[in-house]
Amino acid sequence: MDTMTITKAGGALCGALLVFLLGAWASEGLYHVAGDSHGEEAVMGFAIEVAEAADEAGVEAEPEVPFEEVFVNASAADGERLWRQCASCHNLEGSNATGPYLDGVVGRDKGSVPGYAYSEMLATMEGDWTPENLSGFLLNPKEYAPGTKMAYRGMSDIQDRANLIAYLAATGG
Ligand code: HEC
Repeated sequence: MDTMTITKAGGALCGALLVFLLGAWASEGLYHVAGDSHGEEAVMGFAIEVAEAADEAGVEAEPEVPFEEVFVNASAADGERLWRQCASCHNLEGSNATGPYLDGVVGRDKGSVPGYAYSEMLATMEGDWTPENLSGFLLNPKEYAPGTKMAYRGMSDIQDRANLIAYLAATGG
């Protein structure tokens, strides 16, 4: 073998190695881009949805915060003060008053307190009193459960509802 052949062979080898490395690098890059863009897509999709919602409303409305997010940071201590609005009809000691007792109501089957005479509406309503369901009911009882005999006009502030439900959740069952 003369020097030229060795040089050519070496060059070819280096070239092949370079192609291989570039290929590996590129595919890794592609893989990462694909992986990352998934997350980005989700974020962009959300931003667009919010923008469209604001457009429809014709105002630059702040995106509505879902109840679950407010509830995560709810304060049971602040909720205790709001309980006064309920205490004229409900108690937390396991006995019925104008309304059924509410200790342990979070997670309880709707309309399920033994010995309490519910309206037809609540007695036949499906599901449990999850925090979300309680929030819907307390926002507007008559709209959530048409025909309910709970004479309470509703609590409009989402943070108040979250705090009160956190307080109720702490009463156990
Ligand atoms: C004026 C009386 C009154 C007030 C005030 C009142 N409630 Fe009620 N509540 C009732 C009555 C009556 C029922 C039974 C409704 C039915 O059977 O339709 C009821 C039912 C409920 C239920 C359903 C319980 C179950 O076992 O399914 C929940 C939850 C509830 N009330 C929460 C509250 C909370 C929280 C407040 C305070 C923000 C409140 N209520 C204020 C009278 C009241």
